[in-house]
Amino acid sequence: MIRPIRPDDIPWAARQHAALMANSVFAAFGVRFLECFYSHFARSKTAIAYVWEENGLPVAVISATSDRTRFLRGLVLRHGISLACYAAVGLLRPACRHLVGQLRRYPGHVDGERIEAEMIFITVAPECRGKGVAEKLIEAVLAEYASRGTPRVYVTIESENAGVKRILERMQFQVVRSFLFADKQNDLLRLELPAGEGIG
Ligand SMILES: CC(C)(COP(=O)(O)OP(=O)(O)OC[C@H]1O[C@@H](n2cnc3c(N)ncnc32)[C@H](O)[C@@H]1OP(=O)(O)O)[C@@H](O)C(=O)NCCC(=O)NCCS
Repeated sequence: MIRPIRPDDIPWAARQHAALMANSVFAAFGVRFLECFYSHFARSKTAIAYVWEENGLPVAVISATSDRTRFLRGLVLRHGISLACYAAVGLLRPACRHLVGQLRRYPGHVDGERIEAEMIFITVAPECRGKGVAEKLIEAVLAEYASRGTPRVYVTIESENAGVKRILERMQFQVVRSFLFADKQNDLLRLELPAGEGIG
């Protein structure tokens, strides 16, 4: 069952993210840092975030934004002091400093246009994989984008993440750029959305 993320999902979502996407830049700053993000995904009007529940428990989560600039501005306004504290602790570690130094490589524009709508994180608990959960969560996010009149949506994945790449390409996402980020090759994919219609 899909439902919007709730405030009580936040600690679980952050722990699952830290466990399943341990190499992501944000995970390097720890679970409390991630909690700030998921908290903002749960409350921001520019966020789209759903949980997949089985037997009353969350097992998968997807988070996206329809306006990355406003989302990040709101995140900093609401959680800036906490984020700065967690970041300061993280930055004591050379590995963190190394990752942060690569943040400027993360694409902000494509074809002269700022990236606004972006799917950011998705995690499915290992015991629930291979049943189409990720696909259904992505479809739900795309339907919400379409209902908001979003013209196109972006997502960045590690090029070697064959699972998620296969799902996205089946949904007609197309790779528009490849770049090195966090010491790995990444792909930026884009999907043009039909205005005013749900998908899936
Ligand atoms: C990637 C991830 C979200 C996929 O979740 P999932 O619910 O198992 O995905 P689905 O069941 O919807 O998979 C749909 C398709 O992808 C395929 N797939 C899933 N994992 C795969 C893998 N590792 N290699 C190749 N194909 C894979 C499935 O076989 C299925 O294809 P099919 O219908 O043609 O058989 C999940 O593996 C995960 O949480 N990984 C760790 C976090 C992560 O990498 N997130 C993405 C970062 S952008």
